Amino acid sequence: MNAIPFEQFLADLSKTSEDAFIDPREFDWPENMEPTGWYFTPELISLYGSDTWESMDEAARQKLSFFEAVNFFSLNIHGEKFLISEISRRLFGDDSSELSRYLTHFVDEEARHMMYFSGFCRRYAGKIYPDRTLHGADSGDEELDMFLLFARINVFEEIVDHYNRIMAKDERLEPVVREINRIHHFEELRHLNFGRRFLANCLERHVNDWDDDRRAYLRAHLAGYLNLVWKQYDNPDVYRDAGIEDSFDVWQAQATSDRVLEHRLIVNRKRLSYLRKLELLEDAA
Ligand SMILES: [Fe+2]
Ligand SMILES: [Fe+2]
Repeated sequence: MNAIPFEQFLADLSKTSEDAFIDPREFDWPENMEPTGWYFTPELISLYGSDTWESMDEAARQKLSFFEAVNFFSLNIHGEKFLISEISRRLFGDDSSELSRYLTHFVDEEARHMMYFSGFCRRYAGKIYPDRTLHGADSGDEELDMFLLFARINVFEEIVDHYNRIMAKDERLEPVVREINRIHHFEELRHLNFGRRFLANCLERHVNDWDDDRRAYLRAHLAGYLNLVWKQYDNPDVYRDAGIEDSFDVWQAQATSDRVLEHRLIVNRKRLSYLRKLELLEDAA
């Protein structure tokens, strides 16, 4: 199945991280952002296809696209900040030296990603949207908590990457936004690769001692987490900043809209198939 042993796989990932280092100091930041222009792929904007969207002219849609980009970059900062702290406190424990070596690169890459995301938000919007996520307490079982941490990271990164991949190639977007999405997609491919292999490896080791109850617990936990991830993509502050009237009502209508639920289902089907294969998510998710 997996041709190379796990330790070798980790060593190879570390080598690529070391050889393909991208320095955020070399990033070319434009002085200002144009008041018109696309900052987020229109079809990926949370309100795309809604009555509100249909009532907006192109300038209003572009303004919304700017704040959607700020929200997307902000939610990445908060996700990365969380995983940096959670991974860091587990480094150089009882695990293999190759695992800690690679995870140090993982943390370093996430810290650099925050420089791009915060660089954009601070320079052009003058703010980062606050963290709207909640994090549950640990179960006390170290290995299970580590597994759940990487399963959550994988869910988070798969969905982010769906957006990064599309926006890196969307020529309608402002070049600076395309470039941030491109760099992130490029480096996250390794994180995604690591995450899938780490989860499969852990499940293999626990094939006999993680019983049905524990697996049901993992599935319920991840389904809840997936829901929380998606909630961050609709932000009432974005609608308010874009000048949309009744922004709170518009946001509330989003939560139960078929259009939104269908979009999420399509992305989940496309991006979370590996987690379903590992029986960590229900087919419907
Ligand atoms: Fe990242
Ligand atoms: Fe990542």
